[in-house]
Amino acid sequence: MKKIIIAIDGYSSCGKSTLARQLAKTLNYHYVDTGAMYRAVTLYLIQNQIDFHHNEMVSNCLPQIKIAFGFDEITQTQITLLNGENVENEIRINPRVAGGVSDVSAQSEVRKFLVKQQQTLGQNKGIVMDGRDIGTVVFPSAELKLFITADPKIRAQRRLDELKEKNQNTSFEEVLANLEKRDYIDCNRADSPLMKAEDAIEIDNSFLSKEEQLNLVLTYIKGLAVNLS
Ligand code: DC
Repeated sequence: MKKIIIAIDGYSSCGKSTLARQLAKTLNYHYVDTGAMYRAVTLYLIQNQIDFHHNEMVSNCLPQIKIAFGFDEITQTQITLLNGENVENEIRINPRVAGGVSDVSAQSEVRKFLVKQQQTLGQNKGIVMDGRDIGTVVFPSAELKLFITADPKIRAQRRLDELKEKNQNTSFEEVLANLEKRDYIDCNRADSPLMKAEDAIEIDNSFLSKEEQLNLVLTYIKGLAVNLS
């Protein structure tokens, strides 16, 4: 029995992190949300009024950014820490983070900085990591690679529902436009664009429930002789 790396890539708001969390819980693996790391860097730049497009200023401030993951006992969920501060909610609801994160994550220096940390987090395996370049760049030899897709309108509706739950007032059209803009930038940037790794399994979850999706992926995992405890 062995521990493996599960790499999950795909478009914005297509349920990658829900699946990753479910898998980490079922397998007793660590979960790393790499999107949260790019969001935390973006929040740091906003807080310090650093122009996202000024490569040199952005690179110079990276050594001051410490990102870690913690656990909130009250909500029983994983949280993102930026220089020791819980920024979990802020990185999800601040529209300036959502609006800027694709530009920030297109910068090679930012990617190098975070990819190195991600590779360290996965060095002992037993990890589920989700993002855009996990199967292609961060862990090209991951034992299981998944590429998740869903219809953009369905993704926008899911994201809108999430924001409403957090009492954020926005429209379907705004959410869809932000999501399509992010998809475009993520797929067309020069460094590590979002793409399906050749050996990734593609799952379109537009019409799958969370449970159906999890069960489907568990059938793939069982085929890999992984320790399921
Ligand atoms: O998964 P998310 O929506 O929280 O990701 C936020 C942004 O970060 C997304 O627009 C693309 C970027 N990202 C990336 O470029 N590479 C990753 N591995 C993860 C996220």
